[in-house]
Amino acid sequence: MILGIETSCDDTCAAVLHGNEILSSVISSQTEFHALYGGVVPEIASRHHLELVNAVITQAIAKADVELNSITRIAVTTRPGLIGALLVGVATAKSIAYGLGVELVGVNHMEGHVAANYLPPEPVEPPFVCLIASGGHTSVVFVPQRGEHKLLGQTLDDAAGEALDKGARLLGLGYPGGAELDTLAADGAPGYVTFPVGLDKPGRLDFSFSGVKTALYYYLRDLDPKIFNEHRADIAASYQSAVITALVKKTLAAAASKRCDQICIGGGVSANTELRRLLATECERQGMRLHIPPPTLCTDNAAMIASAARYLPAKPLPDYLSLGATASGGFAA
Ligand code: KG4
Ligand code: ZN
Repeated sequence: MILGIETSCDDTCAAVLHGNEILSSVISSQTEFHALYGGVVPEIASRHHLELVNAVITQAIAKADVELNSITRIAVTTRPGLIGALLVGVATAKSIAYGLGVELVGVNHMEGHVAANYLPPEPVEPPFVCLIASGGHTSVVFVPQRGEHKLLGQTLDDAAGEALDKGARLLGLGYPGGAELDTLAADGAPGYVTFPVGLDKPGRLDFSFSGVKTALYYYLRDLDPKIFNEHRADIAASYQSAVITALVKKTLAAAASKRCDQICIGGGVSANTELRRLLATECERQGMRLHIPPPTLCTDNAAMIASAARYLPAKPLPDYLSLGATASGGFAA
């Protein structure tokens, strides 16, 4: 039985996994506190994790209806993320592992997003190509087998979610904005403005979203306020379309480059209606299988961290006492 702990950004999460069954998954979001500042404030995130982590773990154990001493392994996110936030989870995990006398596994958060695909209700097995798109990361990886990840492309600047959030802000929507933009775009015409699709060249699997964001900024700066008010949904749909087109094109190109016919996705942006629609249409057209975990497993959660810990080597006591956290660390090429 694995207790997973995730505190890499602004969600305090704990989950209990037994075999492939998620007995509990508790997520305490801090979004409302960071919304005041229009983005995640690292120091505030760390302080909230400190206040919440014990309660969230206690709730995960209670919801799972198990005794704490039936946990046999602790899994914790050690990288990448906000360093202060990560350290709260790592220190907590070490203390519980030490107290229970069980082993500890440090998990890469990105690998956790991939491992969400191994969980119910529709677990899948590699090989697959996986797109991870969230507020903090955008990567596409080839997964030949569990625990093996080959980076095929990643963003050179903003993450896709960050680009959607910043676009939403320019359009006068709230924070984080991606979901609101999605809703507004549903009533708009994506062909109203042609925004640039970043690094749109054959064979180029990296992403770039800074150009489209700048294009929106200049477009809005020079726009008649009357047209803005009349066409806000059309502009939202056009902007969103440029971001989503890049994600879909590059994911399909990545799969083709590996002659792989299965695609998985993860990260908060996978909740996006247009991403789901376009990926589903293109996968069907190209004879590919598409797998999208439920939204609660796509956004940050600890069940995915526990899932990854099942095939990773554990550190026994006293080796894990030296386990640290690092802010950087994606997939290796
Ligand atoms: O994975 P996540 O919950 O947290 C991390 O960033 O790690 O992802 C959050 C991101 C935000 O940028 C948010 O705006 C975006 O996911 N998001 C969406 C939608 N729902 C959440 N983006 C587009 N459409 C949505 N429906
Ligand atoms: Zn994430």
